Amino acid sequence: MAKQEDQFKKVLSHAKEYGYVFQSSEIYDGLSAVYDYAQNGVELKKNIRDYWWKAMVQMHENIVGIDASILMHPTTWKASGHVDAFNDPLIDNKDSKKRYRADVLVEDYCAKIEGKIDKEVAKAAKRFGDAFNKEEFVSTNGRVVGYQEKINSILSRMASSLEKEDLADVKLLIEELGIADPLTGSKNWTEVKQFNLMFGTQIGASAESSTQVYLRPETAQGIFVNFLNVQKTGRMKIPFGIAQTGKAFRNEIVARQFIFRMREFEQMEMQFFVKPGTQKEWYTNWKETRMKWHLSLGMGADNYRFHDHEKLAHYADAASDIEFKFPFGFKELEGIHSRTDFDLKAHEEHSGKKLQYFDHEENKSYTPFVVETSIGLDRMFLAVFSNSLKEEELENGTTRTVLKLPGVLAPFKAAVLPLVKKDGLPEVAREILNDLKWDFNVFYDEKDAVGKRYRRQDANGTPFCITVDHQTLEDKTVTIRHRDTMEQKRVAIAELKDIIKAEVAVKTWLQKM
Ligand code: GAP
Repeated sequence: MAKQEDQFKKVLSHAKEYGYVFQSSEIYDGLSAVYDYAQNGVELKKNIRDYWWKAMVQMHENIVGIDASILMHPTTWKASGHVDAFNDPLIDNKDSKKRYRADVLVEDYCAKIEGKIDKEVAKAAKRFGDAFNKEEFVSTNGRVVGYQEKINSILSRMASSLEKEDLADVKLLIEELGIADPLTGSKNWTEVKQFNLMFGTQIGASAESSTQVYLRPETAQGIFVNFLNVQKTGRMKIPFGIAQTGKAFRNEIVARQFIFRMREFEQMEMQFFVKPGTQKEWYTNWKETRMKWHLSLGMGADNYRFHDHEKLAHYADAASDIEFKFPFGFKELEGIHSRTDFDLKAHEEHSGKKLQYFDHEENKSYTPFVVETSIGLDRMFLAVFSNSLKEEELENGTTRTVLKLPGVLAPFKAAVLPLVKKDGLPEVAREILNDLKWDFNVFYDEKDAVGKRYRRQDANGTPFCITVDHQTLEDKTVTIRHRDTMEQKRVAIAELKDIIKAEVAVKTWLQKM
């Protein structure tokens, strides 16, 4: 646990020190759960967004994008259920005056039991060596089975109490498990209450004529209300998808874990409209496709798992999370939901407008069913950033900090470094930079010894360093150094573009899907 916390602290300080993420309005001591992306962070975020957009929109003839407004007609949120039911159960500690999400306190309790399972597995793996069969061990070892049963029984009781709105039982569960305030150890809890997560504001000039509106808590509803406009103007035939990336806002009770849970964040969502009855097939298909997208980035298959929901939201007939191993454990990164025809039907009912599709092959109209893929861009940023940050022991006994970002996502693809700041080397370096920058984001650095500059680029995540030296003046060759292997090669300037492209092009990575 302490090791995990140390790693997470390193992630936070590296993100600040290397210009990836700053706290919002830091000079005023910040605003809780709100962050700004800095000069490198904005590039990494853009590259993740592009990688998603290319995979989802550009590579699919039957998926198109939109960019709907953050502010929408307030009835949207009545129809979607957010006004009445977009709540989190909160609980206050009477002694510390700290506020928590009741369900998160229980989930964290279960995560500790899961930690015990991990320890048993690690011990057994060491004992049995190559002969170790993890699946068999976790399904037969008495202690592990007991731990898992305890987790299942706690989570299923909580899910059923929340579904029945039995908040008194959620409090009872917290008391029975002996859960204490993580900061102070106090068990002096208030009752559990529901808290709506939407940020409301007013539209209009005067108090009398103003209307209550909301900052959208998800981008999906902008897609549903535009379903027929896009279908008709794009002459889309079912099955087809509408994709969107954009800001969403939630007044989260638990503001912690850095950019994992923010009050203002960005989503990348796609609603796939299908013929009723085919939704299960498409749900399975999108689960597989989305997992392949994650795996294409090479961040290790062991770091992902599906968590299929047993208790489903009232509008869903299947749902699964893709969980990622963050520095604080496995947590939801993306959701794939089979949302039935709930949203379109609800908007039809509240707007009085038909939102149906006329199927020419079947010669009839119907309300399509929807399979949704929904991923938080900031969460994906944290997954990529935390997974890439490594401390490496080198052969000469020193250590280096290196940010092994997938090349396709790295903010800068190469840095051009003149060996010395004289003898015409900076001029040649700038010529190379000016040529490469038509194709890639390239960095120029001439300050400090070259070894120090390499280390800076390693920590920044730049895949290549290109060094211009005196030989360059004679034969138009440079040294190119690879961030991950630290291998250096002498190559012609004319070859640089192809070498970089082979490593960072979207095609190179997406083809792995
Ligand atoms: N339209 C479906 C929807 O919004 P969700 O599970 O509430 O579903 C989808 O959110 C994704 O959005 C999550 O898997 C997560 O990656 C991201 N997300 C949700 N709340 C977030 C928050 N407060 N901060 C950062 N990302 C968040």
